[in-house]
Amino acid sequence: NGLEPRAVKDTTSASEDIQRQPFVIGVAGGAASGKTTVCDMIIQQLHDQRVVLINLDSFYHNLTEEELARVHEYNFDHPDAFDTEHLLSCMEKLRQGQAVDIPKYDFKTYRSSVFRRVNPTDVIILEGILLFHDPRVRKLMNMKIFVCTDADVRLARRIKRDTVENGRDIGTVLDQYSKFVKPAFDDFILPTKKYADIIIPRGGDNHVAIDLIVQHICTKLGQHDLCKIYPNLYVIHSTFQI
Ligand code: CTP
Repeated sequence: NGLEPRAVKDTTSASEDIQRQPFVIGVAGGAASGKTTVCDMIIQQLHDQRVVLINLDSFYHNLTEEELARVHEYNFDHPDAFDTEHLLSCMEKLRQGQAVDIPKYDFKTYRSSVFRRVNPTDVIILEGILLFHDPRVRKLMNMKIFVCTDADVRLARRIKRDTVENGRDIGTVLDQYSKFVKPAFDDFILPTKKYADIIIPRGGDNHVAIDLIVQHICTKLGQHDLCKIYPNLYVIHSTFQI
């Protein structure tokens, strides 16, 4: 499913391996904009690389009992809802070649109780609504992608996800949207679009954009031969600045 690093034949020497830093891709954008689909498509096409996907949702603060009792007043779309220090420390360890335990966030219990082990890898894809908010997190990324999807499409997807998958009632979902989600998108998420290297309209439906991105990643990794998609695009690469 792309969550765990995949093993590939290692043709590098031990010293090369120690020095190699992971290529870090950040994928940001509004909630339910299709970030996960974009990441999954990139992972699928990077079939011969070791890739790991890390979701910003994993770094939501656990709610206190008091916050849980008034959960409908909690703003999950504010930058303070995330434990950015924890994300930074996990990334630092991965860059130093150490394995880390990343929390798994549960949208139903509002808590992370289990962890998954993530090993150092060639490509790390970070995904989340506010990934470009903190300059220290932005600095970690070799490539920043912002997924742009119309607000009505995002809202429709969100209603479906929160009612069908998370068992919430529609009134609560719409209240949360107007009170927190929409204002936070305007105040915190949309202003970070300017930091993106690439803006993808229509999210996961945009196959051309995904193909171009994968080509660029392969070029950066020096693994041209591993990219089997549109080999003729290499000609364009010399002038295609991202
Ligand atoms: N959220 C929530 N309840 C929680 C925690 C988060 O409703 N306990 C909501 C926040 O309000 C925020 C959203 O989850 O708006 C962030 O999730 P996001 O990662 O954007 O969702 P995805 O479905 O992964 O987005 P995409 O479709 O772009 O992949």
